[in-house]
Amino acid sequence: MNYMIKTIGCQINVCNSEIISDMLVNNGFFEVKNPEEANIFILNTCSIRSSAEQKAFSYLGRLEILKMKNKKLKIFVIGCMAERLGNIIKQRFKTVNLVIGNKDVKYVIFKIVSSFQHIDTKNTLVSNNKIVNYIKIMTGCNNYCTYCIVPFVCGNEHSFNFNTILNRCSMLVRRGTKKIILLGQNVNSYKYGNVDFTMLLKQIARINGVERISFMTNHPKDFNIDLINIISNEPKICTNIHIPMQSASDRILKKMNRKYTYSNYIKLIDNLRSAIPNINITTDIIVGFPTETSMDFKKTLNAVQTIKFSKVYAFKYSPRPNTLSYNMIDDVTPLEKKERLKVILKESNKISVEILSKMIGSVQEVLTEDIIGDTIKATTRCGYKVFIKTLDNKYNYLGKQLNVKIKTVKINSLIAEII
Ligand code: SAH
Ligand code: SF4
Ligand code: F3S
Repeated sequence: MNYMIKTIGCQINVCNSEIISDMLVNNGFFEVKNPEEANIFILNTCSIRSSAEQKAFSYLGRLEILKMKNKKLKIFVIGCMAERLGNIIKQRFKTVNLVIGNKDVKYVIFKIVSSFQHIDTKNTLVSNNKIVNYIKIMTGCNNYCTYCIVPFVCGNEHSFNFNTILNRCSMLVRRGTKKIILLGQNVNSYKYGNVDFTMLLKQIARINGVERISFMTNHPKDFNIDLINIISNEPKICTNIHIPMQSASDRILKKMNRKYTYSNYIKLIDNLRSAIPNINITTDIIVGFPTETSMDFKKTLNAVQTIKFSKVYAFKYSPRPNTLSYNMIDDVTPLEKKERLKVILKESNKISVEILSKMIGSVQEVLTEDIIGDTIKATTRCGYKVFIKTLDNKYNYLGKQLNVKIKTVKINSLIAEII
């Protein structure tokens, strides 16, 4: 039996897809990349922007045609859009076998498993050997940023049991994992009993065999001094830190309900940079939030130029049903949003290349995470992607920390040689 899984959305969806994929592989299924070859198609969906939902709908349209040729194809739709628009999906696409909303991934697996008698549920949560593994440490979000649909599709914030997380880390390490990426919509607000995020990081760092720890996404308001200190003192913690800014206009930040001002944000960046010299800071920005004037936008653009993020993920504001800003007039024209996005991306891409170019000639310690064709894919401790040209014995390097010399820069990555 062949399966294909298509994932739209954030790292949390990628993580759930990996768990489901591992379960299927452990039960003898084979992953294919061409939908024509699949007996099972799993579409893992996202609702964050209207464009993410449009993408899923267009996929479902194509699958409908495919199912006319291959009547036995089973189609499962899971994830945030399945949660939000489950009934609409079922009505519009009779070809879909099952729509499963945002339940615990074990439940999703159980539902998929139930439609195949020969699947052994004992194998469901065993992860396959990977150098890098995600671990979800919480679900949901309580922040209710006025533009954001996440609290409505993922529910309230809930941190997972501390011991369960530690056990999972140990289990992964025994199976060959070197790097663990902790996931949550507001990862740095983790709290289980008395254990906060900093304590969790400390405990994970103590596990023998864990070589690197990374985490996302942070909310600026929860980034406290203890967290800054542990990143600066614990060498296992990677120094790529994603902290969405969204806007640099205080008026807009307030309307977004972000609970910080631009000056709070800048102070946080300054504190991080003075405590962690080789930090790599990335961010998210929304352009064209309701009432955003060209002056507000200028402030955001100036902030991008001043702060010099190594990467900016910028998005055009998309009104989402149920959110508070859905009732605000979406008054920035599509053309203006497009223009602002273009300006931000142009500026931030230029800065990214400048920052990466400074690494040329330097020696970096990288972890080799994957082999793609004749190239080794690795990352530096501060999270930059590094590609290393072919070697005859490239598989011997997998999962190892190596010293490499940076040769050249591509848009979002570095090219290096082993020394
Ligand atoms: N939990 C994270 C990220 C959530 S979604 C955080 O708090 O930062 C990822 C990014 O999508 C957000 O940071 C935001 O920049 C963007 N986003 C969320 N809702 C959006 C919307 N309605 N329109 C456009 N971009 C949006
Ligand atoms: Fe959405 Fe805000 Fe929660 Fe992030 S913190 S998931 S942007 S509501
Ligand atoms: Fe999208 Fe759901 Fe993630 S809405 S961004 S897949 S939590």
